[in-house]
Amino acid sequence: MTDTELIFNPFEPGFTDDPYPAYRDLRDADPVHESPFGLTVVSRYEDVGALLRAGLSVDSRLVAPGMYRDQFDRLDIAEPTLSLSMLDRDPPDHTRLRSLVTKVFTPRSVAALEPMITELVDDALDRIEESGRVDLVEALAFPLPFTVISRMLGVPTTDHIRIRALSGTIVRSLEPVADPQVLDEIVEAGIEMAGIIRGLIAWKRGNPGDDLLSALIAAEQDGDRLTEDELAAQILLLYVAGHETTVNLISNAVVALLRHPDQLALLRDRPDLADNAVEEFLRYDSPVQQTRRITTAPYTLGGREIPQGAFVVGCLASANRDERFWGEDADRLRIDRPNARSHVAFGAGPHHCLGASLARLEGRVAIERLARRFPGLAFDGEVTWNGRINLRGPALLPVAV
Ligand code: HEM
Repeated sequence: MTDTELIFNPFEPGFTDDPYPAYRDLRDADPVHESPFGLTVVSRYEDVGALLRAGLSVDSRLVAPGMYRDQFDRLDIAEPTLSLSMLDRDPPDHTRLRSLVTKVFTPRSVAALEPMITELVDDALDRIEESGRVDLVEALAFPLPFTVISRMLGVPTTDHIRIRALSGTIVRSLEPVADPQVLDEIVEAGIEMAGIIRGLIAWKRGNPGDDLLSALIAAEQDGDRLTEDELAAQILLLYVAGHETTVNLISNAVVALLRHPDQLALLRDRPDLADNAVEEFLRYDSPVQQTRRITTAPYTLGGREIPQGAFVVGCLASANRDERFWGEDADRLRIDRPNARSHVAFGAGPHHCLGASLARLEGRVAIERLARRFPGLAFDGEVTWNGRINLRGPALLPVAV
């Protein structure tokens, strides 16, 4: 690897605090970039959309030998459950697995959760008011989505401190891991988490209810629709995807608003903009920065041929700031941006985020009520970023109300 080839280096110190200047440079210099790290990085809006809609594979076992293949092989051998979720499966498995849970996440089913979400937010805001100064991640952004997904699954939230730590480690498998020690930690966390999930499934078999986990257990017992390992894999995915992403939506939105006081004032004056504001938060600082596809045949994108077996990263966060699509003010937060909903923060195509309606609802209720309730909301210290390339957000967000 030569220095001149290294035009995009997500391992560079400081990258995860603010990756946007590096994304801009990459979009300008080499929009379909064959990285010396052994992956192809796609960074412009049009190309990312085309990549995700092209029906390419998501099965990591098809990746050509190299850094990523090693990473996946280790995880797969240590804990097969980690690669059996719908996120890592192609049709017909993907179609079968996704159809088992789609019903619960339709906009209509999700809308019924609004009273519960509002109550959870208001309880959290009461506690924030009592303390006056809090870490907003700990006080609101984490517990809200975690409690909601736990209740939907019908599992107790008692283990949350351990589960939070484990999921925080596991999600690092969604980005390139250069440090072998980190890979060891991910493998250990994956094994422990899969054990916890299997324990919850066993518990639920004896305590069935009107919840998602009971419904999936019924599907598994029904016959050939879901194997036991697949059941554990879907629960693990829903559990982790259900909170590790929305926590960043809420925290990134608060950081963005505190850095753009005119937009915070606009949101307070115009609560009718709240839904659009959530789309703009998703665009402006995307909670999931990238996703990936694997080519099963040579594939041409942006005039460049990508070979078979390539690990292609679609950089959602970069696409969402591409001035070619969004215009000159792409780097500005504008909660009244007319086309904000065109972002690709939830991906696109067959794997488009299943939990999008739920995330939007949680984000809207949390941000709107927080902004309205605390006119004096302000930073109370520096934001500490979590150091992740993909599921990027604050680890600590000190605020005073
Ligand atoms: C897939 C983003 C919240 C469940 C995805 C994908 C993205 C994404 C980018 C992959 C798309 C692709 O590869 O094409 C987000 C963001 C969220 C969020 C930004 C919050 C702001 C949630 C929630 C849940 C959820 C709350 C569930 C409770 C899923 C599932 C998939 C998925 C199950 C896999 C879908 C499939 O493979 O067919 N999400 N997500 N997500 N998400 Fe989300």
